[in-house]
This record gives sequence, C-alpha cells and structure tokens, in this order.
Amino acid sequence: MKPLEIEVFICRSDNYGVLVHDPETSLTACIDAPEAAPILAAATRRGWDITHILTTHHHTDHVEGNLALKEQFGCVIIGPVNEAVAIPGLDRAVGDGDSFEFGGHTVNVIETPGHTAGHVCYHFEDDKLLFSADTLFALGCGRLFERPATDMWHSLQKLAVLPDETAIYFGHEYTLSNARFAVTIDPDNERLKSRAADIEVLRAEGKFTIPTTLALEKETNPFLRAADPSIRRNLLMESRSNEEVFAEIRKRKDNF
Ligand SMILES: [Fe+2]
Repeated sequence: MKPLEIEVFICRSDNYGVLVHDPETSLTACIDAPEAAPILAAATRRGWDITHILTTHHHTDHVEGNLALKEQFGCVIIGPVNEAVAIPGLDRAVGDGDSFEFGGHTVNVIETPGHTAGHVCYHFEDDKLLFSADTLFALGCGRLFERPATDMWHSLQKLAVLPDETAIYFGHEYTLSNARFAVTIDPDNERLKSRAADIEVLRAEGKFTIPTTLALEKETNPFLRAADPSIRRNLLMESRSNEEVFAEIRKRKDNF
C-alpha cells in the first residue's frame, strides 16, 4: 500500500490547513476547513479533488470553509456526533470508538472533550497519524472552553497511549508561545530546553513546527507531564493529583 501524502499550509492567521491524499484511490481528506480559498489553492496546486472533510469541532475557524468546499467538490463531511447541529453541511456524525475507511486506511475516532464538549481527533492507525486539532498542540493543549480541566486531562491520556512514533498534526501554529511557556513549568528538562531553542530558530525563519510526534510530546509537553516529579516540585504540588497539577498548568498558560 502506498503511503498517504500530506500537504500542510497556513489558513487565516495561525490555523493549519491539512490535506491527506491516498494515491491509490485518489481520495483526499481535508482536516477541518478553516478557510476555503487557501484550501482550494492547495488542492489545485497538488491536483487533488477534495472528497472528504474531517471536522474536529464546531469553532468557526475549523468549519468556515465547509459549505464552499462542499459546493465545489461535493465532498462528504464527517464530524463529531456531540456537536452535529453546529457543523455546517455534516453528512456523517461519528463518536468515540467509531471507525471508518478512507481508501484502504482505517480511521479511528477518539473523542477528546475539553476545548469543546464534543471535540474528536482522527487516528489513522496503520499510518501512525493523528489529527489532534485543538486538543493537543506541539508543547501545548487547547484552551478549556466547554469542559473542565479534569475532562481535558483524561482526553489527553487517551492520546498518550497511542504508539510513540505517531506523527501528530495539530490545529494551530502556537508552538513558539507554547515553548516559552513550557520552560517556565519544566525548567530542568534538558530535552525541552533544546527543543525550545530549536523552535526559536524555526519560527524566526518562518518555518512550520508541524508535525510533532507523540514521543517528543511525552518528553517535553508539560500538559502531558502533570505526573512528572520535577514539574510537581517546581509547582510546589508534589502531593496533588495529576488533574490538579494539569489544571494549574492550564491556568498559568491562560495568564502567560
Ligand atoms: Fe477551537
């Protein structure tokens, strides 16, 4: 089976547009539709017709292009069952544990409430690809708009058990700010400090930080590391629960 091809580009100001193309069947999935024009331009550049939109959550900057792209391509829109009424043009609602086929590739749906109540991530299991949108970012996680920190912590745990080599495509280029924050939470983490230095250079050159890998996030992303003794010591929260430590880290980032 030929590997999937992935095209990444910026939409709006800091949203990532992502196209996933199966060369064997010519199917092309657009992961969210932040803005129709740059998505259309990317599809045209690659010569791909968009056959699917995989929507992760209902925020405008993830669904605004749905109807225009559907009109242009007649694509099938798949999205979260718990936000179905808020997803423009939705054809098929999916929830936790559902799977569907994209060409010969199995896609598993992982519900990750926190940023929104019904947010889903799409896991292409055999391809070791995760589209995490606004649940898990490089060195960050989504803001808690619709569910409490405890729910987000448990959502992140569902992602953390995927294979270490999983490539993660996330929804926004927030990595520089995330890196500058992460070193305040986990100042003794050498791997993080070196990654943060690399990110300063990448972003100064205008380069993307997508994708990341789960292994790298588990080593350096403070939002996955609430159980880490050094972070707990730094926050003076050694005897608190993981959920409480996570909530504190999230609160500090909100005010960073
Ligand atoms: Fe969002």
